[in-house]
Amino acid sequence: MIKKAILPVAGLGTRFLPASKSIPKEMVTVVDRPAIEYVVKEAVEAGIEQIILVTHSSKASIENYFDRNFELETTLEQKKKFDLLKEITEILPSHVSVVSVRQPQPLGLGHAVLCAKDIVGDEAFAVLLPDVLVKSQSTENDLANMIAQYQQSQAAQIMVEAVPDQLVDQYGIVDVAEVPTQGQSQVMQGIVEKPAIGEAPSNLSVIGRYVLPAKIMQLLEKTPRGAGNEIQLTDAIAMLQETETVEAYRMLGQTFDCGSKLGYLKAVLHYGIAHPKLGTQFAELIQELKI
Ligand code: G1P
Repeated sequence: MIKKAILPVAGLGTRFLPASKSIPKEMVTVVDRPAIEYVVKEAVEAGIEQIILVTHSSKASIENYFDRNFELETTLEQKKKFDLLKEITEILPSHVSVVSVRQPQPLGLGHAVLCAKDIVGDEAFAVLLPDVLVKSQSTENDLANMIAQYQQSQAAQIMVEAVPDQLVDQYGIVDVAEVPTQGQSQVMQGIVEKPAIGEAPSNLSVIGRYVLPAKIMQLLEKTPRGAGNEIQLTDAIAMLQETETVEAYRMLGQTFDCGSKLGYLKAVLHYGIAHPKLGTQFAELIQELKI
């Protein structure tokens, strides 16, 4: 079973300045909780039991968020604010742990994943990029589907969705003989990081959810710097695919790129409307705007 997930959170979030100047971009609030909580919950719902944060010295508030806060808990208890107490102590179920490791230098996503090598050991694991929120469209969790497919085929799973042709240069793009239907996987023939428009093998973009075998760590160790002069996870996956079957999983859910300001605003709207307590009033508020 796949129980470990790596969340690379060391990036400085320059796309989200000035908000990210003194708080991690992952801690920016989407409705009433930090963006990172949605990603961690997505992983937990898919059966993950250990969250591995690959982090940076400026990002301690992420670790603090998932830790207990004795002072706050005592105060809430004394004030008999039991609903809030429950909420802050039940952010994660008790069987889930959060550990962290530092990425000492910003050498790219592939390097960030490699920083968790010793924690992962010889187990297959998931990677979730926290900039992207994945909202389920149904009861199905896409990451859970990928894990089930990995269990069955033993092939690495790369989550993809179609993007407009003019945006292919912003993503990893996969090459498949047959385009998978949503919720299904197909064997991948290639993967390339941020191809030039007009040179992409398809419009199926890598959205930042992966299920990978432990072997990828050895490949990352010998991955040379690629696009942007960084060690790219995409390049190590391309190497893996030379010797093993790798599959592209086409997602069912909807993505929100919270690393970009407009994507973030879109996420706030969608998650706000879906919020169990605030949703109805928030929807009314939007209607009042009449834009
Ligand atoms: C990373 C990956 C890329 C992927 C993207 C998804 O790029 O390298 O393959 O498509 O995340 O958000 P980044 O956005 O970090 O440049």
